[in-house]
Amino acid sequence: MTTLEEVREDLGDCRRCELCEGRANIVFGVGDPHARVMIIGEAPGKNEDIQGEPFVGAAGKFLNELLGEAGLKREEIYIANILKCRPPQNRDPKVNEIEVCAPYLREQVRAIHPDYLVTLGNFATKFILKTECGITNMRGNVLQAGRFAVIPMFHPAAAIYDRSKVDLLRQDFRMLGTLLVENDGKRSKGSEHDEV
Ligand code: URA
Repeated sequence: MTTLEEVREDLGDCRRCELCEGRANIVFGVGDPHARVMIIGEAPGKNEDIQGEPFVGAAGKFLNELLGEAGLKREEIYIANILKCRPPQNRDPKVNEIEVCAPYLREQVRAIHPDYLVTLGNFATKFILKTECGITNMRGNVLQAGRFAVIPMFHPAAAIYDRSKVDLLRQDFRMLGTLLVENDGKRSKGSEHDEV
């Protein structure tokens, strides 16, 4: 089984797509390597690029607050993005960027083997669930990707601009908290054949 350190080593000083040209730092991921919950975002923004850590800007502050609704602290979970480098002007990820970068996310998921994958926003949700369905229809549900339970949620950055999403995000994180309590002790054992 590949460890997180090995995945990071494999990524190296990645130059597999054009995003390497403008980045300050690769934003690999942060948190507990044995976390029950892995949060998957889209791509680093300006602050994340500067600090080399996911979700440290405004959306990150809100995410920390939302984690509290689930009874979680940031250090108890693992957070990573689909793309490890910041797209210029925070534009949407391109298909070829996802293609070359996402295998590292897949390896991170296998290494951590969390019980729950929380996908934030459209890109992460569509990628993990291999769906074209938008997040508005997907949120509020617990779905399955291989052996992993997937909980799609609005992206916290979207809720900063559209306050109607705030209550729904709080509700979804509370649902996650309930699931964690109900299924405490039933942690699934990973296998290197687990697909996501
Ligand atoms: N938005 C994301 O999707 N990821 C980050 O790390 C920061 C903002």
